[in-house]
Amino acid sequence: MTDPSWLEYNRRGWDERVDLHLEAESYDLGPLRFTVARTLADELGFSDRARFVEADVYDAPKVLNEVFDLVFINWGALCWLPDIRRWAEVVAHFIKPGGALYQIENHPCAEVFENQEGMPGGMPGYSIPYFTREALRFDDPSDYASPSPLQNPVRYEWSHPLGEIVSSLIASGLTLNWLHEHDSTSFQRYSALVKDSYGMYRWPDKGWFPLSFSLRAGRLDTRVGRAEQQSRPAKVISNQ
Ligand SMILES: C[S@@+](CC[C@H](N)C(=O)[O-])C[C@H]1O[C@@H](n2cnc3c(N)ncnc32)[C@H](O)[C@@H]1O
Repeated sequence: MTDPSWLEYNRRGWDERVDLHLEAESYDLGPLRFTVARTLADELGFSDRARFVEADVYDAPKVLNEVFDLVFINWGALCWLPDIRRWAEVVAHFIKPGGALYQIENHPCAEVFENQEGMPGGMPGYSIPYFTREALRFDDPSDYASPSPLQNPVRYEWSHPLGEIVSSLIASGLTLNWLHEHDSTSFQRYSALVKDSYGMYRWPDKGWFPLSFSLRAGRLDTRVGRAEQQSRPAKVISNQ
């Protein structure tokens, strides 16, 4: 598929980012690293309810022998995973009957474009074709949340079309309740984007293409009627 050490490259990059993101204004609290996560839980008063289990996401069923009412996945998870079908199986594995996945993620359309010199108004230019299947190798010391250059600049990512994400969840036994596409995202992906009053970054003029999506996918509880299992969409930050 690619250089067999892709996971190690990504791990090094993420371990390095922990300290940078703790300082980063846009993160406010920083991302999770094992010991940092415990300290943050302490500070927020969640230590009695929060438990941290560290594993590659594909190995999660081997290290966690439980099922849950809700699997919540937010920004920047899917691009690190080569196999989206297997990811969906892992998600479904952890959801109780009657439970659900709630996810908010960068839209794969947004991966197609990047900042490019000379574009009018800081608008992005074409970068990676939407249907690229092979691993994307980046050698880039910049970070989306911190101005400090990374010492571990190599990372591997994969592009997953929206249809494949949704179809993989359905194939894993979940039922799609809703899917929303949004014209805003959580970081300044392109210089043209402007920060709104929620701290989200959106188009300055027109909604050129979706920047993020959110979805809910449930596992039906066969003991309960379908109507009782319909849930209301969560409130989402979007002007659509
Ligand atoms: C962009 S960050 C997103 C973190 C969090 N969702 C947020 O919004 O702050 C990507 C995260 O994915 C984790 N990650 C990357 N590859 C992974 C893998 N194969 N298994 C588990 N986690 C992985 C990284 O350690 C990092 O914490």
